[in-house]
Amino acid sequence: MVTLINHDKLEIDGKVFQTSEPGEDSSRNILIHDGVVYKIGCDDPDLSQDAEWLIWGVLSEQDKKYFAPVLEHGKNWVAMVYVEFTDSFDLPEREAMEIYDKIIAPLAKKYGIIDLDYGKNWGLRQDGTPVIYDYGIVEWQYKKLYLNCLR
Ligand SMILES: Nc1ncnc2c1ncn2[C@@H]1O[C@H](COP(=O)(O)OP(=O)(O)OP(=O)(O)O)[C@@H](O)[C@H]1O
Ligand SMILES: [Mg+2]
Repeated sequence: MVTLINHDKLEIDGKVFQTSEPGEDSSRNILIHDGVVYKIGCDDPDLSQDAEWLIWGVLSEQDKKYFAPVLEHGKNWVAMVYVEFTDSFDLPEREAMEIYDKIIAPLAKKYGIIDLDYGKNWGLRQDGTPVIYDYGIVEWQYKKLYLNCLR
């Protein structure tokens, strides 16, 4: 049972855990616990943590292997399976660009994910399968935010 206490504290099965603060690598607060990555967003309904949950639910069976599985989500948080990978920005640039062009970019287009590039938000599993671990920003969300800014 997971309960969000505030933006940087989660209660998991009766125990309270402190998340990391958002830093250079992350704009969300992150907690890695027991094989699960918990990501807490800011308290902005337009930036709710629904995108990964919704996308995970509509992925085709053959595309699922390219995404870190979502386990649960609540208001402003999402829980995903902890995946071992080499981050794309640690790969040789040429290799990262090739994988990006062949696999990641088509998936981003197919599902409307906009915060992916050849060195961001995906990695390579030990068996060589690319894995997108951050698919939390999607076109419809961005458009909503953009329109809000124009108001
Ligand atoms: N499923 C996962 N398995 C293992 N590590 C993960 C997973 N998801 C995220 N991480 C680690 O946590 C970091 C932050 O995750 P993520 O990119 O989802 O956060 P974010 O706040 O949305 O980032 P940003 O907004 O800066 O792109 C990643 O750089 C990665 O190292
Ligand atoms: Mg990210």
